[in-house]
Amino acid sequence: MTPPRKLAPSILNSDFSRLGEAIQAVTAGGADWVHLDVMDGHFVPNLTIGPIIVEAAKKNTTLPLDCHLMVSNPETMVPWFTDAGADSITVHAEATRDLPALVRLIKSKGARAGVSIKPDTPVEALYDVLPELDMVLLMSVFPGFGGQKFIPESLDRARRLRAHSDELGLNLDIEMDGGIGLSNLGEVLASGVNAVVVGTAIFRQPDVAGATRAFKAAMG
Ligand code: DX5
Ligand code: ZN
Repeated sequence: MTPPRKLAPSILNSDFSRLGEAIQAVTAGGADWVHLDVMDGHFVPNLTIGPIIVEAAKKNTTLPLDCHLMVSNPETMVPWFTDAGADSITVHAEATRDLPALVRLIKSKGARAGVSIKPDTPVEALYDVLPELDMVLLMSVFPGFGGQKFIPESLDRARRLRAHSDELGLNLDIEMDGGIGLSNLGEVLASGVNAVVVGTAIFRQPDVAGATRAFKAAMG
């Protein structure tokens, strides 16, 4: 079972001096979620946003906030982001020794629970915990920066994960993140992915709302 398609623009490469306008533009363009990339300068070599930005984002949209935590201590930070207004929290499997407990923590805070893996972590590493998850976020670049090149092997990983999720009868969101543009969107969706994160291909366009609309139209 593949859940409905979702477009999740990532604000990472938006103009942060006009963040409110950027979020309003993707909202007006018909985005489904707003993707927020939290990086701690330790789990990944970049430092980005904290809970006060999530709070600010919340004031500029009614869309669900899809928070992607690329941090080394998710156990500490999950409550910071749920308190700030995150609707969905995705943690990295590589960042915890007790993934089931971390997933329970996210759910206990009332958020949807997602788990992400880097391109070199096998999808099979998630099979035990899969029935407990609302979403898997497959990284199609190594996390840390927007504007990187899509890793084509990601498509086969999505196919395997969707097939396994279907065998278990789950209604799992499979989200893909990194290097997605209009030129490879079709093959990403065909691989079993239903939620796509798009950063530079939306926010590096002069008309952000128009670019969002173009992606939505291409998603059918
Ligand atoms: C990368 C982030 C992505 C990134 C996507 O670590 O998780 O969300 O901003 O940007 P593009 O679409 O430019 O690859
Ligand atoms: Zn992300």
